[in-house]
Order: sequence, then C-alpha cells, then structure tokens
Amino acid sequence: YLPPKIGRKHKAHRQQLQQGKRWCKGEKGEGKRKGKGGRGKMGQDQSIPLVDENTPTQTLENRSVEAVAKYIKDGRARRIVVMTGAGISTSAGIPDFRSPETGLYANLARLNLPYAEAVFNISYFRSNPLPFYTLAQELYPGNYRPTITHSFINLLHQKGLLLKLFTQNIDCLEREAGLPDDMIVEAHGSFAKQSCIECKTPYPEELMKKAIREKSVPRCLSDSCDGLVKPEIVFFGESLPEEFFMNRHLPSQADLCIIMGTSLSVHPFAGLPQLCADETPRVLINQDQVGEVGSRTDDVLLLGDCDDGVKRLAEACGWLEELEEMWRRTAPEKAKEEEKPKKTRDEELEDEVEKLTREVEQSLKLGEAQYKWLENHVDNKLSRLQEEEKNGTLPESATTEPGKKGEQGAPSITLKPETAPNESNGDVLKLSSLLLEKKSSP
Ligand code: OAD
Repeated sequence: YLPPKIGRKHKAHRQQLQQGKRWCKGEKGEGKRKGKGGRGKMGQDQSIPLVDENTPTQTLENRSVEAVAKYIKDGRARRIVVMTGAGISTSAGIPDFRSPETGLYANLARLNLPYAEAVFNISYFRSNPLPFYTLAQELYPGNYRPTITHSFINLLHQKGLLLKLFTQNIDCLEREAGLPDDMIVEAHGSFAKQSCIECKTPYPEELMKKAIREKSVPRCLSDSCDGLVKPEIVFFGESLPEEFFMNRHLPSQADLCIIMGTSLSVHPFAGLPQLCADETPRVLINQDQVGEVGSRTDDVLLLGDCDDGVKRLAEACGWLEELEEMWRRTAPEKAKEEEKPKKTRDEELEDEVEKLTREVEQSLKLGEAQYKWLENHVDNKLSRLQEEEKNGTLPESATTEPGKKGEQGAPSITLKPETAPNESNGDVLKLSSLLLEKKSSP
C-alpha cells in the first residue's frame, strides 16, 4: 500500500488548469501508483491527461456550471449518481484523510504507528485496536451536523432526480440530512452494524455504543471465539460490502454524475466515475482535480469548496433558497439560536485533528505502559511459579497454560489508564502468554 500524495503538487496543478494546460500526475513526477487490483480490496489510483479546452463537448453546451444547470432544468438529468468522500464533511468539523495540514493521516504520521493508515488496517487492528477505538469515539455518528452539501444530495432526491449516492464516508451525515437508507450505498461500510472480525457474529448495537462511550474494546460474545469486535467499516485488506457490487452498474445508467469531496485514491471506489458512459456529463466539485475526472469531453470541474460549489450549482438551477431552507432544518435547536460566527473552518479542523491525534497518541502510550506492566507481572508470576515448583506445590495446569483466560490481575485494553483491570482481555493474555513462553525458553 502506497500512501497518496496530496498538497503542494495540487496547487501547481490548479494553476495549470486555469491556464488550460493538459496535465497528468506522471508529468509532475508524482509517480504512477498502481492499484492493488483484486475485486473489492482497497488500493490506489493513477491519473490520465485532462481534456484539452478546445475539444468540443458531446452532451452539454459547454463545460460550465451554467451548462450543467441548463441540462438539469431541461429535464435531461433524471438519473443522477452522486459519489462522495470525506471532503463533503470537513465543513461540519470532521477532518478528511489526506489534506496536507488538516487531514487525519498527515497528523497521525508523526505518531508511533507503523504508518498512518494502520489505524484502518485490519492486521494492525488485530494487534492493537486501541488507536481505532480512540478515533471511533470521536467519529461515532451523532456529534456533527450535516453540511449544505449533504442537504444538496437530499434536495436532488426530493426532486426525484437522484438515482443513487455512493459514499465512502462513515459519518452517516447523509442520513441525518434526510436521505433515506435505500438511496445510499455506503461503500466503506458504516457504524450502523458491528460484528466479530473472526467469526462474524453480530454484536448488539447498544453494547457497542456502551463500549465506545466507555472507551473499551468489545469482544465477541461467543465463548468459543473471543475475537475482537469492530463496526462494519471497511478496513484496508477487507472486502467492500455486497451492496457496493450490487449497485456498481448504476453509474453506467446515469445521465449525470456528481463527484464531491474525494481524492479518488482508494479502489475500487475510485473506479466508479469511469463506469459512466463516455458522453455522460461528470461534475467534480472538489478542492483539487482528482482521478481521471477532467479527461472526458463533458467533464466539468468546479474546483474549490464543496459547499460553495453546490450553492453555485443550486443557484444556477434556481434552487438556492430551497436548498438553504432545507439545510436550515438540519440544525439542532441550540445551534439555530446561536448565530454568532465561530472559528474558521480550518481552525476548527486543526483543533479537531489535533485532539484526535493527541488521543491516539495517548492510546499508543498506554499500549507501551501495558506491555511494561505485563513484563513486571510476568516476572513476578514466573518467580512465584519457580518458587512453587521448588516447593512441590505447583498445579499441573499452571505450567501448560500460562496465558489462560481468567488470569488474575491482567490490565484491560481500554483507553483510560485509570480503568479497572479486566480479566478477560484476550490480547493482553496472548501477550502475557508470549512473554511467559519467552521467559520459559532457555
Ligand atoms: P481524502 O481525504 O482522501 O480526500 C478528500 C478530498 O476532499 C481531497 O481531494 C480534498 O482536497 C477535498 N476536500 C477536503 N475538504 C474539502 C472541501 N471543504 N471542499 C472541497 N473539497 C474538499 O478522503 P476520501 O477520498 O474520502 O477509508 O478518502 C477515501 C478513503 O480513504 C476513506 O473512505 C478512508 C480513507 O482511508 C477508510 O478509512 C476505510
């Protein structure tokens, strides 16, 4: 897995777009990143050159927002497919992943993780679920208000124009904006369900909420398993949900595609825009040009903030007031009263991402502390066992199953150092068992 590069190179690229030049990532020396391939596994994207500004369009009158609005108003866009990523939620205060300053990965990169994306890697999760659960508490739905971009998607639905929303987001803000479940394909899963990563036994939602609230790592309820439980969010190394594959044909039936707030760097989602027919207009509303959107005759790039972009499009369609009214209704009562402007979006994102990073860092430190605790614990236990062996008072099971479930006094894997020990913590016990083996070996 190669981490993607977003940032300064995109600024150069934005300039080039304004100058109407052709561009591709390879030309800027960014290097082509090959996807992992493999049906349903996540990987990286690579880019191709943008369409020359003199190339005529096939469907739209021209490549402008007004032309897109006219196309919609003329009733030619009746099956709109929308594809979204973390960028549509940044104005709600949720950091995206790959923005250079305020993105989660750039900030996690300075921590003691093997690599930033490890927080969402299934192998890493197996060995240390704490950083993920630290983030989960913050990212768990319910803490944020939908953005006007989320309301815009709902507006398309209300007007009977939305064929499907494909989202990579796990924040559930589309639902909170009013979009019904059957309109949404959560390509990277969501917090809506949870199960054991080993035996897939479903885990009750109430218990998961409790675990997240208490910052503890839940375990499978089946006695014979005791595997780790996680929300059904797709991690690197896992397959996408069946519903993604069941709906993957829809972009080819769309008469308009709107892509917003995504770097299109994670496959197979990143391949969705390419499934639209060649002559189908595709609108990209994003800070940066991404993927191969911009390479076709009817691609329209609205580079900049998502909320601004959807407002421009809504205004051109004559829907702005309706959209703003719809969005106003998503505000909790408290927020409606409190009209005073707060921090800028970037300041809020910086605060949020710093908080998240600090918490993950703390959870990593806690992991180290637990290891040290275990080492001492194992030392003590070993000398006790040796002592008992010498005195001939040692029960047989103690020599054969040193890390057995139920061992007294093992510390829990929780995020709060002050939490009471939890005897049934499998990871700690496995570690304990390993340490004992290490100590017992000559
Ligand atoms: P990224 O962080 O990779 O990309 C977000 C994109 O949105 C970038 O191109 C930003 O420039 C842009 N952006 C950010 N804020 C914006 C705003 N207010 N207006 C316009 N554009 C904005 O996020 P995703 O593409 O969603 O997977 O990332 C894809 C997947 O990678 C995620 O689902 C996640 C991650 O690893 C998992 O964790 C499983």
